[in-house]
Amino acid sequence: MLNKIEHVALAVADLDAAVAHYADTWGLEVEHRERVEDQGVEEAMLPLGDSYLQLLGATGPDTTVGRFLATRGEGLHHIAYEVDDLPAALAGLKDKGVRLIDEAPRRGGRGHLVAFVHPKGNHGLLVELIQRPRSG
Ligand code: CO
Repeated sequence: MLNKIEHVALAVADLDAAVAHYADTWGLEVEHRERVEDQGVEEAMLPLGDSYLQLLGATGPDTTVGRFLATRGEGLHHIAYEVDDLPAALAGLKDKGVRLIDEAPRRGGRGHLVAFVHPKGNHGLLVELIQRPRSG
């Protein structure tokens, strides 16, 4: 069901500062940057091999990531697994009684379809399932 780790997402307090840090310290450059208003995030995607590091800033304090930063500070926020068929993956998890944050796919950055799986019942890890846009 899972193809690969598509990205590892880090919540950061200052996206510009984090982008500069990852360029200076790790030599990673931003390939794509986007504000996703309905998720309250601004994300920078840094290619790393066949996957990405995602730096995730909040668009304001009253957003999911804003609240995460206020309570837990910066650090690992979620891991995204790539799937070919997101609706089928969600249906399969639902059948297994897995707690979903998104029952149906929604639009994420880069035109991808995404859905989040609740960390409770998943050993504390927030998982994002992601399906690339169909080409052609
Ligand atoms: Co993500």
